[in-house]
Amino acid sequence: MAFYYNGFSLVLLNLGVLVFLSSCMGAHSGNFFQDFDLTWGGNRAKIFDRGQLLSLSLDKVSGSGFQSKKEYLFGRIDMQLKLVAGNSAGTVTAYYLSSQGPTHDEIDFEFLGNVTGQPYILHTNVYAQGKGGREQQFYLWFDPTKNFHSYSIIWTAQHIVFLVDNTPIRLFKNAESLGVPYPKNQPMRIYSSLWNADDWATRGGLVKTDWTKAPFTAYYRNFNAQTSTNGKFSNGAWQNEELDAYSRRRLRWVQKNFMIYNYCTDYKRFPQGLPPECRQ
Ligand SMILES: *[C@@H]1O[C@H](CO)[C@@H](O)[C@H](O)[C@H]1NC(C)=O
Repeated sequence: MAFYYNGFSLVLLNLGVLVFLSSCMGAHSGNFFQDFDLTWGGNRAKIFDRGQLLSLSLDKVSGSGFQSKKEYLFGRIDMQLKLVAGNSAGTVTAYYLSSQGPTHDEIDFEFLGNVTGQPYILHTNVYAQGKGGREQQFYLWFDPTKNFHSYSIIWTAQHIVFLVDNTPIRLFKNAESLGVPYPKNQPMRIYSSLWNADDWATRGGLVKTDWTKAPFTAYYRNFNAQTSTNGKFSNGAWQNEELDAYSRRRLRWVQKNFMIYNYCTDYKRFPQGLPPECRQ
C-alpha cells in the first residue's frame, strides 16, 4: 500500500513540476544562483536546493545579506519569505529595493521580530531622492514564521503598491504634481539582510536580542521579477494602472484592521501640517 501510495504521489509530483515549469516560462522566475549575490556575513548566507532556496542567518558575530545582480526600473517583484521563528525580538529582516548614492530612492519592507507568540511588525517606507520619513507599519493576519508568504512590490511611474499574499497593504501614489519627489529615474537593486537592531526595533530597545537562541534564520524562495514600463503585469490583478474594486476593498480592510502606524496621521510629528501627499 505504502509503495503504491508513494509511487502515485511521485507521479503527481512530477506532473506538478511539469505544470510549474511550463507556467513559469512567460515571466522570469528565479534561481538564486543566477539572480543574486551573497554579499556579506560569510557562510551565514546560503543558497541550496539547486538555487531554489536561500537562507540568511544572524548570530552574535554578524548578520548576513544578499543583493540582486540586476537592476530594475519599474516592475513587479515577488518573493516568498519565512521569517525567523520563536523569540526573534531585536532581529530585523529587511527586504527592499534601492538605488545608490546620497540621493537614492528606496522601497522598503522591514520585518521587526518579537518575543515568542507576539506579533511581528511589518514596517514599510518609501524614499525619493534621499528622503524617506513615509512610514506605515502593520501587523499581519497570520504568523509569518510558520509558512512561506509572498511579499511583493509593484512599481510603476504612477504608483507603488506593497502586497502581502497578493493583498495590497499600501498604495503610494506619484504626487509630483504636488511637488513631492517620486522614485522614477534611478534603477534599483533588490536587497535583503538579517541583522540585529535591538537598540531600536523593539519599541526603542525595550527588549534585547536573546543570543542563547542564535543563530536566527530566515528563508527565501520563489523569487520572480517582471519588468514593465506601463504597469501591466501578467500575474497581477492590475491589467489597468489603477487598483480594481476588489483590490481597493482589500487595501481598505488591511489599512483599517492591521495598520498600527501611518505617518499621514501623525499630527504630532508634523505640527506645521502633514506632508502634501497625505492630503490627497
Ligand atoms: C511585540 O509585541 C508587543 C506586545 O503584543 C507589541 O506591542 C509590539 O508592537 C510588538 N512588536 C514589536 C516590534 O515590539
